[in-house]
Amino acid sequence: MPSMLTLVFRKLKVGSKPQKEESSMAPQPDASQQRVQPPKKQRSDFEFGKILGEGSYSEVVQATEKTTRKEYAIKVLLKRQMIRENKQKYVMRERDVLTRLNHPFFVKLYFTFQDKDRLYFGLSLAKRGELLPYIHKVGSFDECTTRFYSAEIILALEHMHSLGIIHRDLKPENILLNEDWHIQITDFGSAKILEADSSDGIVRANSFVGTAQYVSPELLTTNRTERVEKSASKCSDLWALGAIIYQLLAGLPPFRAGTEYLIFQKILKLEYVFPDGFPEKARDLVQKLLVIDPKKRLGCDECGGYPKLKAHPFFQGVDWDNIHKQTPPALKPFTMLDGEEIHSDYYVDDFNILTPNSLSDVFEKINTNETENEKTHSKKYVLDHSSEERAHLLSKQEKDVKWHQFVEGNLILKMGLVDKRKGLFARRRQLLLTEGPHLYYVDPENMVLKGEIPWSRTLKVEAKNFKTFFVHTPNRTYYLIDPEGYALEWCRAIDEMMHYTYQA
Ligand code: ADE
Repeated sequence: MPSMLTLVFRKLKVGSKPQKEESSMAPQPDASQQRVQPPKKQRSDFEFGKILGEGSYSEVVQATEKTTRKEYAIKVLLKRQMIRENKQKYVMRERDVLTRLNHPFFVKLYFTFQDKDRLYFGLSLAKRGELLPYIHKVGSFDECTTRFYSAEIILALEHMHSLGIIHRDLKPENILLNEDWHIQITDFGSAKILEADSSDGIVRANSFVGTAQYVSPELLTTNRTERVEKSASKCSDLWALGAIIYQLLAGLPPFRAGTEYLIFQKILKLEYVFPDGFPEKARDLVQKLLVIDPKKRLGCDECGGYPKLKAHPFFQGVDWDNIHKQTPPALKPFTMLDGEEIHSDYYVDDFNILTPNSLSDVFEKINTNETENEKTHSKKYVLDHSSEERAHLLSKQEKDVKWHQFVEGNLILKMGLVDKRKGLFARRRQLLLTEGPHLYYVDPENMVLKGEIPWSRTLKVEAKNFKTFFVHTPNRTYYLIDPEGYALEWCRAIDEMMHYTYQA
């Protein structure tokens, strides 16, 4: 006998038309009008590849249909686990929402099927994956890139809200990028469909939904009746939008703390600051979105709705009707120095690949300051010591150098204070290049090892000027500023180490 879940799942059909809950009362089309449904797909129709994402009762797996070679992201949900966690309602709602959405900025649900243990949702494969790792990779987005992606998110929200759907867990992990670098919003497991009779667009939910950093204050407060009720409306998604715009430009979300509880406290007190260099118009926009009273948030119905949000000066010049046809700005590592954007000469094409930007030759100019002879033949940092010499240097280092405790017995080849930047935030660090090779960085105030820049064959160093240099690694570009002006020396030392390690 089919389980209740199986029956409910069968009742819902994927198609372009939204399914009404009360559809059993609606007149049914006669047989001649009924479309012939293609046969249900099954697991064996697909070759499954890598896991793209994992949850407690589901995972998203890359899959290729054997007959058509079409690629999908298939969300596989474990029925038993889902029932144990009492999540059936959310799964069905996710399917219902995906069926209603019909817009390029959302993943599309192409098909569903099930077997004894699992449900399968065949979704569009967003080839470039999540937005979040790209923020981490480049530190933060420049104004032009932020404007473009914020505009796409707004168009997606406008469509979704016009259908009475609220996402309730909007965050950079749920914003995917397709092959052409346009957004595709996903994960409607927390979504809500507003009932037609809910005039204020507010629904009550019993449990906290969302992710701490992006959750709006109204979901955290106790209402007048002293019963803990959490209200989610379209405005909750607008709060999340404000937090995301802040993060795109600054590199980190506005409300940060060691625990969820402390993050919630900050949200309720609207306790956040803009780092130096945060663009003025964007600051004004974020301030109008991160507003405690949901009805006073720019973009909500009470504040002029989407037309007012789209007319904000930050979006000046955006061609709202054609954005999906435009080529998104290339993601490029960059940092701000003295109010100016300093861009890398590489752009992020894929995770391990930094593609040189052919329009710029700054990198060449700086790196040819030294003659080829100097670069390839004279070594300054990486010397071939005899074992006696090395032992002597190491014992001297142990006695005289306070940073010795952090370098795991390796000989330090170059060290110095740098400002390590992440988005618009900077921290003073002692950078230590050692044998190994390693590039350790230490918090000099608290004398704590904070981390290491990971070495690999693909590490690339790029000098921008006498103070600024970038270290590109597959997952992250490190922006380093040497206040003493020895950026070129750092690049030389790191290049020497690269040459010694991989070409010797
Ligand atoms: N991760 C989660 N869902 C995905 C999708 N549809 N495409 C690519 N990566 C994903």
